[in-house]
Amino acid sequence: METEIVSVDNDMDNSVSYQRAVDILKDGGVVAFPTETVYGLGALATDAVAVQRIFEAKGRPSDNPLIVHIGNKEDVNNYAVDVPENAGKLMDAFWPGPLTLVFHKKPGVIAENVTPGFDTVGIRMPDHPVALNLLRTLDGPLAAPSANRSGKPSPTEAAHVMTDLDGRIPLIVDGGRTGVGVESTVLDMTANPPEILRPGGVTREMIEEVIGPVRAEDKSPGVADEEAPRAPGMKYMHYAPESPLFVIRRDAAAIREAVKQLHAEGKRVAVIGPDEFDITEADWYFAAGPLHDNEAMAVNLYSALRQCDLTDADLILAAETDYEGVGQAVMNRLLKAADGKRYDG
Ligand code: TXA
Ligand code: MG
Repeated sequence: METEIVSVDNDMDNSVSYQRAVDILKDGGVVAFPTETVYGLGALATDAVAVQRIFEAKGRPSDNPLIVHIGNKEDVNNYAVDVPENAGKLMDAFWPGPLTLVFHKKPGVIAENVTPGFDTVGIRMPDHPVALNLLRTLDGPLAAPSANRSGKPSPTEAAHVMTDLDGRIPLIVDGGRTGVGVESTVLDMTANPPEILRPGGVTREMIEEVIGPVRAEDKSPGVADEEAPRAPGMKYMHYAPESPLFVIRRDAAAIREAVKQLHAEGKRVAVIGPDEFDITEADWYFAAGPLHDNEAMAVNLYSALRQCDLTDADLILAAETDYEGVGQAVMNRLLKAADGKRYDG
């Protein structure tokens, strides 16, 4: 299969490109498209055969539930039941935006393989003009995981999707680089109090300001995986770089020392860290944004990890960020990529 890329530009009339994407989707095909978090690989969520194509293209285990994307807030009631009042407040505050809400599923509407074995469904309304335009032109729900091959970092630009899925999908809608850079927050509204299953662009503080206390595992690295939905016998693969990754204290002198030690052992080292650090000793240095700028770190994280995978490094060191705000999501993804490993000399 030939993979086509169409660029859509806000200043142009892109109706032909949208129509092409909609035709493929209505026909049961898959299309990669930008959201404000990462690129998604969408299929019509009411069509089980189409949804199956997502799992095939990604090489993703088909027991991992997919998020349903909608173009209007009111659509929630087409797919979910018992939507609590607090959810309405969250939708008003954060939709469109990087917050996925998990509800009890309305029976018989969304294809069974979108949420295999679950009686719940995760729904979000993305805050991206291209995603919204696509959803509204399609006039239907899109099941869409991140548009990477299973085991790779989520794509934050169309070129990442091309690298992973060239020849496996018919169309990529290119809307430039994504703005948030890490996936949406997943909040389980069927739990009492609601529980954050995956930290993301909408932070715990932001949620609690609207609905009061929520549950969130303060997990120590490498232990329980808060992204895994609570269901028996389910295991999820997470992105892990080709070379072992270690999280290291955000301290230029400590990083230099670590690089020296590793060089003495004959190892080549790639480092991900803040713009301000000048670690010339490292074999590769990938600057991921200004110090304490958690938003910038989130935007650049997956790109930096993909760049590390293109080097011959024997080992990757990634400097810790702040744990505040979206820094929680950044550290959650980094520690997963590191499998909880920290470098301490
Ligand atoms: O930002 C995002 O959420 C991106 C963009 C494309 O929208 N999508 C995304 O999808 O990250 P994906 O498939 O890579 O991650 C979906 C995760 C699942 O692994 C699971 O942890 C959680 O969302 N999830 C989805 N439905 C759920 C459900 N019914 N119950 C519990 N967790 C669910
Ligand atoms: Mg993903």
